[in-house]
Amino acid sequence: MYLGIDLGTSSVKALLMDNNQSIVGSASAELEVSRPHPGWSEQNPADWIEATKNAMAQLKLNHGAALGKVQGIGLSGHMHGATLLDKKDEVIRPCILWNDTRSHEEAAELDNNPLFRSLSGNIVFPGFTAPKLCWVKNNEAYNFKKTAKVLLPKDYLRLWLTGETVSEPSDAAGTSWLDVAKRDWSSELLDASGMDRSQMPDLVEGSDVSGQLRGELAGAWGMYNVVVVAGGAGDNAAAAIGMGIVEAGSAFLSLGTSGVLFAANDSYLPNPESAVHAFCHALPDRWHQMGVILSATDALNWYSGITGMGPGELTAELGDELRAPSRATFLPYLSGERTPHNDAAIRGGFFGLEHNSDRADLTQSVLEGVGFAFRDCLEALRAAGTDVKRVTAVGGGSNSIYWLKAIATILNVPVDLPEDGDNGAAYGAARLGLIAAEKADPVKVCKQAKTVRTLEPDQKFIVDYDEAYSKYKSLYPAIKGL
Ligand code: XUL
Repeated sequence: MYLGIDLGTSSVKALLMDNNQSIVGSASAELEVSRPHPGWSEQNPADWIEATKNAMAQLKLNHGAALGKVQGIGLSGHMHGATLLDKKDEVIRPCILWNDTRSHEEAAELDNNPLFRSLSGNIVFPGFTAPKLCWVKNNEAYNFKKTAKVLLPKDYLRLWLTGETVSEPSDAAGTSWLDVAKRDWSSELLDASGMDRSQMPDLVEGSDVSGQLRGELAGAWGMYNVVVVAGGAGDNAAAAIGMGIVEAGSAFLSLGTSGVLFAANDSYLPNPESAVHAFCHALPDRWHQMGVILSATDALNWYSGITGMGPGELTAELGDELRAPSRATFLPYLSGERTPHNDAAIRGGFFGLEHNSDRADLTQSVLEGVGFAFRDCLEALRAAGTDVKRVTAVGGGSNSIYWLKAIATILNVPVDLPEDGDNGAAYGAARLGLIAAEKADPVKVCKQAKTVRTLEPDQKFIVDYDEAYSKYKSLYPAIKGL
């Protein structure tokens, strides 16, 4: 048996998988995000532990015998968060999360130093870890002085699980401190942000062993084998492992809170100019690229709050047949944008409203706006040398067939729906736990999920949606700086 623990932004999920990679059961426990000031987004690391204990207690209750047989655990988590620890491994302040934009000035300053793009292969985005530490240095000098270690969120869970301070390259690539080609910390980049190597955890590959589960926890969860904990992965790489997106050219599109267009690469292909993220994959000698948009289902949820109708009710109003593009255009920049604009200050909007724009028109334009933002990501990946020919759709938004049809047509690539919706990050983490415990061949383990349905681009609307995309693209430069 293997266990995957995914520390998500809104919940911790624990998933139990057997030796044949079938899911035995899963449990989750919710987490809150605190937003004490505009642009801030924080979580208390103690809550991650409480939520993990809670999810594990549910698993023990419902699948106690299977849980007892666990031999390997894999971890996945939301990326980029800065968890600051003092000399005694005590948490110094709440973790600053991936979607916190307070450090945009520090990010721009680091990004102006050409070393960052050349060694980390990425723009220094405000959500990344290095600028957060610069913000702490500038605004909370007392906390900065006390900082003996900086851990990514799932690596803090590992510290609790194993007593080890370890990370792995897929998540470390999102700090701006990793030499992504070498898969090792860069002393130059650390130095350029006032940090040093002693403040970084050790690194192992995602599919290697990072430590052993502490006896106390194994006892509490009724596990009687020696349980190894794999390096694991950042949530996007873990989801890719879960879906078997490891061979170059395979890709997924995640319609979650944020949106991700992820492509696996067999070499390191940075292209910071197009705001593509080029990170290490969770398996040795593999990398990946992704375009990241900050509001995907978040945009529909926002509109759902405005209209007082559930997201499912809103999309149901459109039916399943794709319509011609809405005459209204929605820009989904509710909390700024990463790919392709790298703009923390830009905000969203509707354009082209008229007397007969009704609720359904605006729902349609929200779905399309997110689709156009994904098209921007597709173009950015193409500029970075990767031509995505089809994508597998995951995330809550993929429940809307209408949305998937619109996206397939906007991108002009087929969108595959995988067989089982549960093979995301927690499942990928469990697979990494299996590979580490069994020293198994990663390629044999990471089989691609079966497709149950493919949404083909609707040829009769390709030109119309291309024109609508051109209009969408012309709006960002028009509103930037307003
Ligand atoms: C990726 C990113 C998000 C978080 C969300 O760069 O910031 O996908 O990992 O969990």
